[in-house]
Amino acid sequence: MNLLLLGRGKTGSQVAEVAAERKHHIHIVTSKENSNASALVPQKLLGIDTVMDFTAPDCVLAHIESCVKNGKNMVVGTTGWYKELNHVRGLVEKHGTGFLYASNFSVGVNIFFEMARAAASALRHQYSGQIFERHHAEKKDAPSGTALALQQIMRETSGTREPLEITSFREGEVVGLHEVVLESSADRIYVCHDAKSRRGFAEGAVLAAEWLSSKKGFYNFRDVWREV
Ligand SMILES: NC(=O)c1ccc[n+]([C@@H]2O[C@H](COP(=O)([O-])OP(=O)(O)OC[C@H]3O[C@@H](n4cnc5c(N)ncnc54)[C@H](OP(=O)(O)O)[C@@H]3O)[C@@H](O)[C@H]2O)c1
Repeated sequence: MNLLLLGRGKTGSQVAEVAAERKHHIHIVTSKENSNASALVPQKLLGIDTVMDFTAPDCVLAHIESCVKNGKNMVVGTTGWYKELNHVRGLVEKHGTGFLYASNFSVGVNIFFEMARAAASALRHQYSGQIFERHHAEKKDAPSGTALALQQIMRETSGTREPLEITSFREGEVVGLHEVVLESSADRIYVCHDAKSRRGFAEGAVLAAEWLSSKKGFYNFRDVWREV
């Protein structure tokens, strides 16, 4: 595939590495070349199969709007824009493109989500719950998109009204640690995922781009990771 990658930061550089290993052609656009989404105009998108975004919350929506309006499939790993989900879904449907996003492209995290779903039944048995997340000091959004996804999973699965409280820590070089703690008067249950590197995100994102290549529509990796 001809992939256009937006962002060559901590995660984007790993995505580029995995994409090259899997024999894709990869063209990288940095922030300097793309102010106000200037690199995402029709003549610059010619020949590109899929655009992948690992940039920042303040510019990702402009990238999505440009790419979708220009008919390009997109894989979006950048978080912090989910209040606009319905707007983006409408845009994708209107322009008939393929769009796949995730707060976390790691297959391991999606297995962790399954474990959290199983543990959520504790909330119907006199357990209280909390979510903790730790990331490196430079992470721009808090809580993390993964913690918010976890909060939604716990609420939907248990049928409780109150969302679990999320506590965020920003320190050092932590890649991404998420934990659900469920507590009763008798015991505590811990469900935890600790990312050792960004490789898992990158592999999942490239597999997602391959999966999306033959599709149109609006997808969350949470619903399709078993197929990639
Ligand atoms: N879904 C997942 O699995 C997953 C996993 C990890 C991270 N993420 C998310 O991905 C995003 C990036 O994370 P990161 O840790 O890689 O951040 P990072 O190291 O800060 O990298 C972001 C990169 O985006 C570039 N950039 C900013 N604006 C741009 C633009 N308009 N066009 C092109 N490039 C632009 C930055 O370039 P400059 O340095 O020149 O500004 C930087 O290289 C965050 O939202 C994070 O939450 C998602």
